[in-house]
Amino acid sequence: MSNMLHVNRATFDEVMLPNYAPQSVVPVKGDGSHVWDQDGREYIDFSGGIAVNCLGHCHPALVQAIQEQSQKLWHVSNVWTNEPALRLAKKLVASTFADKVFFCNSGAEANEAALKLARRYALEKYGEQKNQIISFNQSFHGRTFFTVTAGGQAAYSDGFGPKPSAIDHATYNDLASLEALISDNTCAVIMEPMLGEGGVTPATDAFIKGVRALCDKHNALLIFDEVQTGFGRSGHLYMYQAYGVTPDILSTAKSLGGGFPIGGILTTDEIGQHLKFGTHGTTYGGNPLACAVAEAAFDIVNTAEVLQGIETRERLFRDKLQQINQKYDVFSEIRGKGLLLGAVMNQAHEGRAKEFIAASVEQGLMCLVAGPNVVRFAPSLIVEPQDIEEGFLRFDKAVARVVAGD
Ligand SMILES: Cc1ncc(COP(=O)(O)O)c(C=O)c1O
Repeated sequence: MSNMLHVNRATFDEVMLPNYAPQSVVPVKGDGSHVWDQDGREYIDFSGGIAVNCLGHCHPALVQAIQEQSQKLWHVSNVWTNEPALRLAKKLVASTFADKVFFCNSGAEANEAALKLARRYALEKYGEQKNQIISFNQSFHGRTFFTVTAGGQAAYSDGFGPKPSAIDHATYNDLASLEALISDNTCAVIMEPMLGEGGVTPATDAFIKGVRALCDKHNALLIFDEVQTGFGRSGHLYMYQAYGVTPDILSTAKSLGGGFPIGGILTTDEIGQHLKFGTHGTTYGGNPLACAVAEAAFDIVNTAEVLQGIETRERLFRDKLQQINQKYDVFSEIRGKGLLLGAVMNQAHEGRAKEFIAASVEQGLMCLVAGPNVVRFAPSLIVEPQDIEEGFLRFDKAVARVVAGD
């Protein structure tokens, strides 16, 4: 260790591209819902690495899974298959609507695959005129050019030259706006069952059911992007199960790997057969290490104990946030589902979510924004009640400082 190069936050500005603006300290260690920085300062983690660390940091079962797999087989490529990928696929299929699975490495890649599959399916089944993709304003589907164009936030998609075409945007939770755009030329509608980056806004029951009905009417596929809402976060393995509305293709990533990069799409036999040999691929997708970790995460997350525990924890979070709001009057609403919750700034504090995050870091708490107006919480699905208690003591102090204008 003695000859290890010394690096710190300043190194970032020296050698990394400036597309991120990381916090001023560098985390070096994590355990459960606790993280420590280079100076040994401790933080409570209510952000979960942007809704990724579903079992907190360094969960012993995930550590064991990666250690065991790392001594067996790291990578063989998709020229071969491998046991962890096959086991994980079998478990996902057994617990969802899906018959078939494709693995990749990230959420964007999963949505890229979902959109390509939808276009190919429509082309082969109905002809080339059926190519329109409809997405929703404020949605987020990743940063590849296809997915960022689907996302429809100009700040992310403009300035890179000509965009992939035949992508239109309706208004989330406004069925009439979708009805005005959809036709028999629509190949797919892609939506998050709850907007994550776009403000932690759940779809209304009537909206999500109406979207399904419109897709059925026009033979359009319904893609649920469950990259953020999936794998337990809503209190169900996937959030579509909470609504009782089944998609045709579902994308999953983030929590699936519990902190190890993996993504995937789930679909039916009928649709999946159109991603035939040679149509799509990725070198690392379904990598044995990633799948071994995801399988271990699946075995823990997909249990009544963990899924039911999310409801209890959601209640704790909501109670604490309401108590803080009674004290400081800063939020207009607490929204979300399970352990993906958003505290929406009231009029007096409009646009100040970022200040709450900065103040939280100072108090030793990691949380997130979801746009300028929402403080987002996406903690470990098994965060300990005493860590919730301690985290909110810190958040209380952070809110007090923002309100006092310190
Ligand atoms: C709903 C949703 N889809 C897709 C993505 C992109 O995932 P990734 O960053 O793994 O490519 C995200 C990431 O925040 C997301 O929240």
